[in-house]
Amino acid sequence: MSSLLIVDDNKDILTQLKWGLASEGWDLHFAHDADEALRMYDEVAPKVVTLDLGLPPEEDNSSEGFRCLVEMLKSNHPARVIVITGNDERENALKAVQTGAYDFFRKPIDLDELRVIIRRAFHLCDIEAEQPGEEAEESNGVAESHGIVGTCPAMRSILTMIDRVSSSDVPILISGESGTGKELVAKAVHEKSPRRGGPLVTVNCGAIPENLLESEFFGHEKGAFTGASSLVRGKVEYADKGTLFLDEIGELPMNLQVKILRFLQEMVIQRVGGRKDIEVNVRIIAATNVDLPQAIEEGAFREDLYYRLSVVNLHLPPLRDRGEDVRLLAEHFLRRLTGDMHREITGFTPEALAYLTSYDWPGNIRELENKVRRAIVLAGGSRITPEDLGFVGHGTRGNGETPPLSGTLREARAGLEKKMVKSALTRCQGNILKASEELGISRPTMYDLLKKHGIENWGK
Ligand SMILES: Nc1ncnc2c1ncn2[C@@H]1O[C@H](COP(=O)(O)OP(=O)(O)OP(=O)(O)O)[C@@H](O)[C@H]1O
Ligand SMILES: [Mg+2]
Repeated sequence: MSSLLIVDDNKDILTQLKWGLASEGWDLHFAHDADEALRMYDEVAPKVVTLDLGLPPEEDNSSEGFRCLVEMLKSNHPARVIVITGNDERENALKAVQTGAYDFFRKPIDLDELRVIIRRAFHLCDIEAEQPGEEAEESNGVAESHGIVGTCPAMRSILTMIDRVSSSDVPILISGESGTGKELVAKAVHEKSPRRGGPLVTVNCGAIPENLLESEFFGHEKGAFTGASSLVRGKVEYADKGTLFLDEIGELPMNLQVKILRFLQEMVIQRVGGRKDIEVNVRIIAATNVDLPQAIEEGAFREDLYYRLSVVNLHLPPLRDRGEDVRLLAEHFLRRLTGDMHREITGFTPEALAYLTSYDWPGNIRELENKVRRAIVLAGGSRITPEDLGFVGHGTRGNGETPPLSGTLREARAGLEKKMVKSALTRCQGNILKASEELGISRPTMYDLLKKHGIENWGK
């Protein structure tokens, strides 16, 4: 049962919370002062606490509140404590978080927002309680396996699949939008497989000119063509006893699709200009962000090759469909990136978190990582704000531009997305490449967005 202890000396607020939170199915407990709160804390061992810092006998200062917070965190069943402060007590709020509070919330209480924060806190408790996959590590409530952070159901099943398929040699096709972690998953599979001692060799099928691709794959003999002054081994040979990662497989030209298919069927290659069959022992992982079944229909991809490659298909969902993972990932990147930079940034403001969870993330996890990196550099305070993340124009702090809190999430996302695309284009004087880089998305994604939102006359 999810037990929640609410500590507040104001009876009206307690009543408001009692009714306002009743429908959530939490086991609610109430306390009016520090002593009562600590007694109940030991008795019910709540998972989450909301703690008003201004407790009697000195409601105007927060000493009793802090005493309570410190005692709770010291206990051997520490809860996630959400501190509630007066509107002008920013300093206390920050101090509380530094002391170890999970989050803070400022009065007047907006029930909808508070509910979201409490729900998240419970959610993190659940994640901690569930036993993650065998080799998953837990750090600060984040389930992580080979660098892959993810606890939403779709990602959990991906992690389970990775565990299952790593030990064999079956080919794997990883699909998903740009920036969803396809390469990361390929690496994880290799690292978990018995081939981990061998090489992981990547060929980016979209980045190599068509006329060089065959030699890139299979190598060439000396004198095979003009300029082939010595024998060169191809990537397939280098991948022997390891894994060959065929990235952007959807970009592979038709004539090479045939050759790759033959190689997959027979596990032998011939260097360009050579006649000798060379046996290789590789495991194939391919990745694509194009819809291959559709490409097959359009005649751009061979069906037989598709079936060879996709014995196991791991589809990575876009970040906007991963629920709470956005927050976990943001915190993961913050920890990792501040670790590098020795900065004293403790987390995100509730407003920033609201933006993070309502944004559409066209560039997926790569875009999130870029935004957090940028925010760490720009952050003035100890918590990252929407401005730091680039969600609101510079110098607009306090102009009332908060995430829209009514209407559907989809509408809110679409609105914010359109606004950001337009303003990036204006800033970059209509330069699509620059604007997409600034937004952390690829150019094709940018074109999709322009089409989606009917943006034509950008600020040239
Ligand atoms: N679940 C995750 N947990 C932690 N980091 C992640 C996760 N997914 C992706 N990343 C990080 O996001 C970035 C983009 O991931 P990656 O390059 O694997 O995506 P991709 O799908 O291959 O993108 P593209 O289609 O553009 O090549 C990388 O820095 C990666 O480490
Ligand atoms: Mg990639």
